[in-house]
Amino acid sequence: MKPWWLDERSHAGAEHLDERYVSGYDRKAGFDPTEDLDVLQRHGLASDSVVVDLGAGTGGFALAVAGLCRHVVAVDVSPAMTAAIRGRVTELGLDNVSVVDGRFLSYEHHGQPADVIFTRNALHQLPDFWKAIALDRMASMLRPGGILRLRDLVYDFAPAEADVRIEAWMSGAVTDPALGWTADELAEHVRGEFSTYSWVLDGMLDKTSFDIVDRTFRRSAYGTYTCKRRST
Ligand SMILES: C[S@@+](CC[C@H](N)C(=O)[O-])C[C@H]1O[C@@H](n2cnc3c(N)ncnc32)[C@H](O)[C@@H]1O
Repeated sequence: MKPWWLDERSHAGAEHLDERYVSGYDRKAGFDPTEDLDVLQRHGLASDSVVVDLGAGTGGFALAVAGLCRHVVAVDVSPAMTAAIRGRVTELGLDNVSVVDGRFLSYEHHGQPADVIFTRNALHQLPDFWKAIALDRMASMLRPGGILRLRDLVYDFAPAEADVRIEAWMSGAVTDPALGWTADELAEHVRGEFSTYSWVLDGMLDKTSFDIVDRTFRRSAYGTYTCKRRST
């Protein structure tokens, strides 16, 4: 590894490496992939598709998409997360899910290029320089015309609005950490993690051969992008 290369594990979020946190993760995250699956089906997800989920966590999306595609690869840097996915794959008897201990900046995709890449609430673990490299790597895994569905904590406002918008975001936080992210946890996120501005992310997507088909934001902080990989 080059001496200037990022140590992704040390940027993965210590909690994601902790088995106790992982065992309560699904309840805390409360993630329902239905809308993502609907959108992806409208954009070409089909029974012969190859799907890659980067930063797959406990596999909420990867396991749900498995019934709708040919093959899904669930990639995560955390051994506790990949162990959780493997357990569920065995429990459900799925034979078209590969679980990979891998990272945004090192996962090597082999075989048929991906038709769909999904990544949710994980890209912000990387500083911006590395986010762009991760997006470039995603473009190289996808077939031309393939879809990137990117969801993340992204700030959809101007720097001058930051104080008001961040305070408003925090005022809507939950109080029970088992059921979501508290104001203290959101504050820690803003201080220590690498969520970027939407207008920075838009530029990165353009530079890495993605056309944004649709982008929406909730509470100026939860971004959902559907992008198509350009042919050239
Ligand atoms: C907040 S969780 C989101 C998990 C899942 N995508 C979801 O939506 O529930 C972030 C996940 O990203 C993983 N992660 C963090 N940095 C990563 C990296 N550089 N490469 C791959 N996965 C990473 C963490 O281990 C964790 O499972």
